[in-house]
This record gives sequence, C-alpha cells and structure tokens, in this order.
Amino acid sequence: MWKIMDIPKTVEDVELYCERVISLLEEWSWLYQYRATEILLSELLSSESLKLMENLDDHSLSQVPFGLVQSSWPQQLRFFVEECVRLTLKIPVRQSQPVKLTVPNKLRKCTSMKKQHEIDELAPYIMEHCLQSSISRIYDIGSGLGYIDRILATTGGLSIVGVELDSCKIEGAIKLNKELLEQNQSSNIIYIACRLDEENLEHICEQLQCYKENGCLVGLHACGDLSAVSLRQVPSKYAFY
Ligand SMILES: C[S@@+](CC[C@H](N)C(=O)[O-])C[C@H]1O[C@@H](n2cnc3c(N)ncnc32)[C@H](O)[C@@H]1O
Repeated sequence: MWKIMDIPKTVEDVELYCERVISLLEEWSWLYQYRATEILLSELLSSESLKLMENLDDHSLSQVPFGLVQSSWPQQLRFFVEECVRLTLKIPVRQSQPVKLTVPNKLRKCTSMKKQHEIDELAPYIMEHCLQSSISRIYDIGSGLGYIDRILATTGGLSIVGVELDSCKIEGAIKLNKELLEQNQSSNIIYIACRLDEENLEHICEQLQCYKENGCLVGLHACGDLSAVSLRQVPSKYAFY
C-alpha cells in the first residue's frame, strides 16, 4: 500500500482527493507543458481570458491564486481557480525541522542558495518518514543533477535510485557524485535514464523491484507531466510508499 506524506487528516478519502488533483492537472496540462511566453503568444489561452487578466490591477491579479474570481469570467476559468483553492492542502508549517540535517560544507558549496533552501526544507521530512517506516531506499523521479540524492545518501544513509529522462543530467549527476562523495556513498546512488510515462511506470516499478522493498517516492520540482504520471499510480498498485 502507498502512503502519501503529510496529507492532512481532514482529507477523508485520499484516493478521491488524488483523482481530483490528477484530473485537474491533466485537464490543464498545457499550463505546465508550455513555456509562459508560448502560452502568451499562442492561442492556448483564449483572447477573452487574456483580456480579463490584463484588465485586473496588480493586487487583484496576485489574489487569483487565493481564489479571486469574477462572475464575468468564463465558467471553465472560474472552476479552475476555485478547484485549485479547494484542493490546496492546509499543511501546518512546522517551527522546527523533524530531523536535524547536517549537510557537509563540501556539498553546500556546489549548490545554489535556492536549491539549498529547498533541500533544507524537504530532506528532513523524507528522512523522518524513512526512519519511522524503516525505509532505506528512495526513488527520486526527475532527479536532475541529483542534489537531494547526495544529501539523502550522505546524511540519511539511504540508497537512491534516480529516474531522469535527460541523460546529460545523469552524466552531470554522476560526475558531481564522484567529485563530492566518498566512493561508498556514490555507489549507493544509481540512475536510470528513462522518461516515465503512464505506459512504462508499471514496467519500471517491476524492474526496480519496488514490490519487494519498502521505498519512498520523492520528486523535487517534478515538472511537466511527472507529478500527474506518478500520482496516477499512487493510490492503487505498488508496494513502495
Ligand atoms: C525541474 S527539474 C528538477 C530536477 C531535480 N529534482 C532538482 O530539484 O534539482 C525536473 C527534472 O525532471 C525531469 N523530467 C521531466 N519529466 C520527466 C519524465 N516524464 N520522466 C523522467 N524525468 C523527467 C527533467 O528532465 C528535469 O531534469
């Protein structure tokens, strides 16, 4: 069975919740499939919707993600904004990190401040869940240059399988692992070059023997359709969580 991290108890039916998130992500997939400039220059957004946005003052525009809609807007656009607000989880912000993260200076030096911040926020949660559930393996989807993998392998002692479609990024990650990690740590991280999609996810899970070993699926900035594709499988079949 899968367990999804930090879904508040107020969500009674997690499967239904995930279905709604996935449907919304799929229906509006052009939002994350295209660059912002392409969206503005092409016909993706109707000229009517564009005009409506242009007519909003800065303050109103900044309130749209928090649910500001106007009755004159097309129904589809109103539904999108309102559904986003309904599906946004109210997760209480923790005052302290669940697990103390001591990142070696060497690893910090090669990471931008933004990335460091993201890792500082996410890695302790992953480590806490892994400790609580005796999980020793991480599946990092869209692993990129493997920033979080190095931290989890060194400070969390976890073994990592990164899945990444861009083989140049995998080469970059392996190079950085060799430069920055001890040999026994870098050998704990492996990468698979492949594009995860609905057709191959099941096959890849079998290849990785996800059924046999408890694992934790992680995605830092999972972009494109990656979240929708992997979430699609979450409530149903697999034996890693
Ligand atoms: C925004 S980057 C984040 C990289 C890394 N997790 C980080 O935080 O530095 C997203 C990564 O996911 C990869 N990616 C996107 N869609 C994918 C897919 N369907 N299967 C595998 N990798 C994918 C991209 O190539 C990219 O490297």
